Amino acid sequence: MTTREIQDEILRLKKENDFCILAHSYQAHEILEVADFTGDSYALSKMAKGVENRNVLMCGVRFMAETVKMLSPEKKVILSNPIAGCPMAEQMDKEMIEAVKLKYPGYTVVAYINTTAALKTVCDVCVTSSSAVKIVGAIDNPDILFIPDCNLGAFVAKALPDKNIKLLQGGCPTHAAVTKEQAQLAKELHPDALMLVHPECRPAISEMADYVGSTSGIMEFAKRSDAKEFIIGTENSIVQHLQYECPDKKFYVMSKGLICENMKATTLVDVLNCVKGEAGEEIIMDGETIMQARKCIDKMIEMGG
Ligand code: 13P
Ligand code: SF4
Repeated sequence: MTTREIQDEILRLKKENDFCILAHSYQAHEILEVADFTGDSYALSKMAKGVENRNVLMCGVRFMAETVKMLSPEKKVILSNPIAGCPMAEQMDKEMIEAVKLKYPGYTVVAYINTTAALKTVCDVCVTSSSAVKIVGAIDNPDILFIPDCNLGAFVAKALPDKNIKLLQGGCPTHAAVTKEQAQLAKELHPDALMLVHPECRPAISEMADYVGSTSGIMEFAKRSDAKEFIIGTENSIVQHLQYECPDKKFYVMSKGLICENMKATTLVDVLNCVKGEAGEEIIMDGETIMQARKCIDKMIEMGG
């Protein structure tokens, strides 16, 4: 079967079997083309609340599928490939954070959405990369414990100097691996390009950037900008998507290593097999976890607008 034939079959089956397909922006272009909604983690969380179909297929990583399940517990939610986790989400567990909280009484615990559902049950509010500054800024408490990503946390702390933000040592192994030397080399190679960076990169990289924001933020900035060349400091799929959408502009990777294997785990054939009901993993969560964990996601959506 050709790519087009597989896509047509997915479109036919998703209608027949009442599926809504959500795809994170890091997914391959051919998957984004068959999705009902695409975007960053925040946009997908908001979409998840309003889905009308009986079945939701999340093409992304596990915490994203769990978020959909928490927001739409009556739906059958499928993760496109069971191996697609997010290493950052596994770095800290509920027991560890319960112990840390004892050291910071009175602090508001802010969890990046890239965390497990179990961990979310002991946090106060979630944030995503696109909503973090707005939400932390609106919290009526100067004392914040921000978990797990210390790079995103440092970005928020810089934007909100009046807050007392405590960070732990967690983060995205893919974004955090980019070095200052790699970013400098990219600038030397492309001196006219603007540098657009995800806040999961280290502070030294974000400080060099012309724009820091979520995957959707980076895409919107590049599309709207009058500039013609861009160095992209996030997963390299965004370079391909932007090049496709803006053929008159030039996009360069900041590092060849900016590849998230987990986001790449899902193929178009996986999507086909999922809408056939033959692949993927159904997200099963107990009612108590859903009730406790969704409080901080609801709060994020309430505060994030
Ligand atoms: P966004 O919030 O930009 O979608 O980022 C999610 C993510 O996992 C980035 O690595
Ligand atoms: Fe997780 Fe990093 Fe992959 Fe995003 S890029 S899903 S934070 S491992």
